Amino acid sequence: MGLTLVSIFIVSSFSAVLAAILVIAERVIANYGECTITINKDKHITLKGGCSLLEALTSEKIFIPSACGGKGTCGYCKVTVNEGAGQLLPTEEPYLSPEERKNNVRLSCQVKVRNDMDISIPEELLSVREYSCELVDIKDLTYDIKQFRMKLIEPADMSFIPGQYLQLFTPKYDGNTEEVYRAYSISSDPKDKGYAETIIRLVPGGICTTYYFQYMKKGNKVKLNGPYGEFRMSNTNAKMICIAGGSGMAPIKCILHHMKNTGSTREAVYYFGGNTEKDLFLLDEMKQFEKDLANFSFVPVVAKPEQGWNGEKGLVTEAVLRNEKDLSKAEAYLCGSPGMIDASIVVLKNLGMPEANIFYDKFS
Ligand code: FES
Repeated sequence: MGLTLVSIFIVSSFSAVLAAILVIAERVIANYGECTITINKDKHITLKGGCSLLEALTSEKIFIPSACGGKGTCGYCKVTVNEGAGQLLPTEEPYLSPEERKNNVRLSCQVKVRNDMDISIPEELLSVREYSCELVDIKDLTYDIKQFRMKLIEPADMSFIPGQYLQLFTPKYDGNTEEVYRAYSISSDPKDKGYAETIIRLVPGGICTTYYFQYMKKGNKVKLNGPYGEFRMSNTNAKMICIAGGSGMAPIKCILHHMKNTGSTREAVYYFGGNTEKDLFLLDEMKQFEKDLANFSFVPVVAKPEQGWNGEKGLVTEAVLRNEKDLSKAEAYLCGSPGMIDASIVVLKNLGMPEANIFYDKFS
């Protein structure tokens, strides 16, 4: 037994050292020369090969979503590589569906630029920018949720679609040895173009949330890029059922600002769930939206209410079931934990809502 363990240890160590040598050797020795990447058939960038496709695009100020800093662990950095990507790597497989593999979708942080490539990316990613900002306000919303307001310095304004998100940069700091970006939905009023606000829940041990909660102060510089994301309000006039919890408030709040700005009279009901009353926030702002929007109502729901709570009790999905009947013509906008979203989808479908009318943003 002891001998087996020692053998396994020796073989594993040898493999790890060999892999490290190969990576270093490739960096130092391999010379791929100049490579040209053709983007969407009409844009060409030429650079020295050897870096990842994600690094190549970032160096040209083309920002692809990437929450793990290129480690191959978030699955966000998908790009269609029509030519020149080489074999699919085992590190990519868990993040790509059979359909995506068939369509040459790859993780750009795992694909190395070794030769000329032909890639396709959504046009809207070409308008994503990196912003330098100043943190001008931090507001405590609950015991573990804060709202951060950034003034955009360079560029000085941002246009985004309500529901989209941005990526906040976190540098190395005491106890953190890596630089990362993390995705957060924009919560601010879209007409407030010189600022970006987001709502962040503290994740114990989370690199980015720890940094923003413990180290960031008013006046500090912030780097972010964006906007990203497909989650957005449709152009129909269908009744909207919004369901959110925690920092899932952010994109819904942004959509409500947009509805107010455009004088929307769409019927909308917003179910916002918390475990206790301490998990609810922005209640005054929601009351104001009820006054400003002709057909909007806000329904706070508390799972474990204390005595004196007169609002909806239980899970947010139970409140939807109690209050809604036929939702076959309605649409839903869901933001929050994967568990809450999956449970909401089941309830909404049981109330007749077609799956195609359910839009969601899972905060994992
Ligand atoms: S950047 Fe996270 S998987 Fe590529």
